[in-house]
Amino acid sequence: MDKLLIQGGARLDGEIRISGAKNSGLPILAATLLAEGPMHICNLPHLNDITTMLALLRCMGVDITIDEKMCVETNTEPMREFTAPYELVKTMRASILVLGPMLARFGEANVSFPGGCAIGSRPVDIHLRGLEAMGATVEVDQGYIRARCDGRLKGAHFFMDTVTVGGTENLVMAAALAEGRTVLENAAREPEVVDLCLCLEAMGAKISGIGTATLTIDGVETLKGCTYKVMPDRIETGTYLVAAAATGGRVKLKDTRADILESVILKLEEAGAEITCGDDWIALDMKGKRPKSVNLKTAPYPAFPTDMQAQFTAMNAIAEGVGTVTETIFENRLIQVHELNRMGANIALEGNTAMITGVKQLKAAPVMATDLRASASLVIAGLVAEGDTLVDRIYHIDRGYECIEEKLQLLGANIRRVPG
Ligand code: EPZ
Repeated sequence: MDKLLIQGGARLDGEIRISGAKNSGLPILAATLLAEGPMHICNLPHLNDITTMLALLRCMGVDITIDEKMCVETNTEPMREFTAPYELVKTMRASILVLGPMLARFGEANVSFPGGCAIGSRPVDIHLRGLEAMGATVEVDQGYIRARCDGRLKGAHFFMDTVTVGGTENLVMAAALAEGRTVLENAAREPEVVDLCLCLEAMGAKISGIGTATLTIDGVETLKGCTYKVMPDRIETGTYLVAAAATGGRVKLKDTRADILESVILKLEEAGAEITCGDDWIALDMKGKRPKSVNLKTAPYPAFPTDMQAQFTAMNAIAEGVGTVTETIFENRLIQVHELNRMGANIALEGNTAMITGVKQLKAAPVMATDLRASASLVIAGLVAEGDTLVDRIYHIDRGYECIEEKLQLLGANIRRVPG
């Protein structure tokens, strides 16, 4: 297995382009199952999770062509198979997102039950209860979710007990082809949910309340193909902003947006960063200063995103002062603390809160990635540590960060991929 070798100490300085959003591209690729006719999806990031989703669609019979810019054309005409197999679902939980569109379009869907992962048990009970509210029969048999509906799904008024991004996405896609009106209460408002809804509208779906906690969908009989450009990745954007801030450097990120990262930008300004923004770029300058510690608590959008928590934990580890980081979305998403403490950080865990006393210097150490965003926090720690940090199990990183070492090299980091 490849590893990343990082020689710490370089102050990041430069400009890079931000890729399309993984967590928008995945539901939008699932939504292509709803379309009668070809779909063209552009600005997809070249990531393992995206290629896994494409493999999943292909194995169900979707005709897929990809050009050199990762623009994808899909055509569901040849589809004859309505099963998302264990071999693919076990590598990517987001495969569950094909359940709603496949059931709505074809009346049946068999999806391997997605297991938990390092950050939590990741249940899908709300996805399943919502589909049942729309008239589907859902059973779990030999590790598979088997959903069926006679004729079309029926519109329903459904309240989601927990704000769930994937649950909202699955149910919006199912409702788009259901008969009648569906109202989803306590819906997720994440920008990636908005991006999916805008793509569905381009396909002919009738959705109101986009971006709010109440989505109203009036089902239509068919949805047509469309051409859609995936939004920029706000978490990739935030990750490079934090990496620049932690190293006391400066960075300009292009092809991205500031309006979808307000809570993160405000926290970085609290840490002492000077941030300027344009329509499609964000620039950060620390002017060589050490960041100040910040306190944060993760919560559904527009509050501070859980996907940025690990990166800020790493920045707090070397910041001036004491910062607290509270994780409220996933039950086990502070796991990176243990690896950071092995690098000399001073972090105490109290339940779902990390008390982080900033130290002047971390020390390089061989560390192991456990999940996508924890991996990013270890890379950030390696950038500021004294010595050479070797990050193992970086397949986690390759799921969510396109060309991470090339982009960091462009910013002046001493980082390279070494064979395991
Ligand atoms: C999406 O995961 C993202 N993944 C995650 O990003 C992100 O961390 C998460 O949303 C929260 O923002 C993709 O979009 C592919 P949830 P998802 O359903 O949809 C509970 C990354 O690093 N819940 O919003 O799986 C659940 O246990 C990944 O890019 C139920 O109880 O997350 C959790 O506590 C990691 N029942 C909370 O809701 C359900 O049926 C939020 O989970 C569904 C969820």
